[in-house]
Amino acid sequence: MSVKILGTGSFLPEKSVSNDDLSKVMDTSDEWISSRTGIRSRHISIEDTTSTMAVKAAKKALENAGVSAEELDHIFVATLSGDHATPSTSCQVQKGIGAVNAVCMDINAACSGFVYGLNTAIAYARAGMGKKMMIIGVETLSKILDWSDRSTCVLFGDGAGCAIVEADDSREIYIDAGSDGAKGDVLTCEERHLNNLLVKDDSPMQQVTMDGQEVFKFAVRMVPKSITKVLDQAGVDKEEVKYFVLHQANRRIIEAAARRLKQPIEKFPMNVDRCANTSSATVPILLDEMNQKGMLSRGDKIVLSGFGGGLTWGSVYLTW
Ligand code: ACO
Repeated sequence: MSVKILGTGSFLPEKSVSNDDLSKVMDTSDEWISSRTGIRSRHISIEDTTSTMAVKAAKKALENAGVSAEELDHIFVATLSGDHATPSTSCQVQKGIGAVNAVCMDINAACSGFVYGLNTAIAYARAGMGKKMMIIGVETLSKILDWSDRSTCVLFGDGAGCAIVEADDSREIYIDAGSDGAKGDVLTCEERHLNNLLVKDDSPMQQVTMDGQEVFKFAVRMVPKSITKVLDQAGVDKEEVKYFVLHQANRRIIEAAARRLKQPIEKFPMNVDRCANTSSATVPILLDEMNQKGMLSRGDKIVLSGFGGGLTWGSVYLTW
């Protein structure tokens, strides 16, 4: 049993903040940011929250798929920046779209989140546990960034992307995923401290911290390895793949992956220049943009690949 993608949707907050805008409020420049990352602007939320963005992307995906909310049996939301610890973002999406028959669960695998969510849906389909499922990647990273740390805050943005899948035998699908918790310290964002009857800790919570060079080395090593592994499983040659839809962290990481895979950069669509890094949302936002532009046709072979905090990584090979 496999799954086919029935439709996609995405949402970006209206406010776009350019590198020049940032250079007016911190010691940075368009030249520094764009030459190292390819990022020129990012969307930052003013009124939207993680759940409202997720609901907007979900409604667009339902419309694109021609599926009603009542038909969904599962909603998987990948996020590390939910509005609440509970109710989960997936339950808030259920409420927002009226998906009364869905079982809802959040997944946290940072920038690999959407791919992990898709892997979960594939596993549910194979186990006969899910027929029509919604997978969302959504982040409001602007609320967990340290805006006094120019080395991290310029890299990220807010947004949501969604795909609706159906259990189906007509498509090929292969997955690879991995985690390396021992190296998790290179990219962190602390949750609440232990603060109870017995322990008092009122110190401010830490925001996103990153060892950029270590993350860079991890990504350029692991992404081509994971993609090669998933294509080997599928018995598909790299040359046959139409698009490699990679997590949009950084243009230089994507270029390095393309070089290592010996594939032309044109096969690696990008929107990191306009959206920056929206963690779990990058892959579904980009996939939706490609879908809306008519870049994908029945039978196209594509690879989705996510990598990031945890450390985590994952790739999916599928036919459209
Ligand atoms: N503007 C201007 N100068 C800056 C900025 C900024 N925004 N940020 C840092 N600098 C300065 C530093 O202070 C340092 O100055 P110094 O030499 O006087 O000390 C100098 O620029 C160089 O800093 P480095 O950190 O060495 O810069 P580097 O060339 O490594 O580039 C970058 C940093 C872009 C983060 C790079 O390491 C990278 O691309 N890493 C990948 C990490 C990534 O993409 N993470 C995304 C999240 S994780 C994920 O999604 C997988």
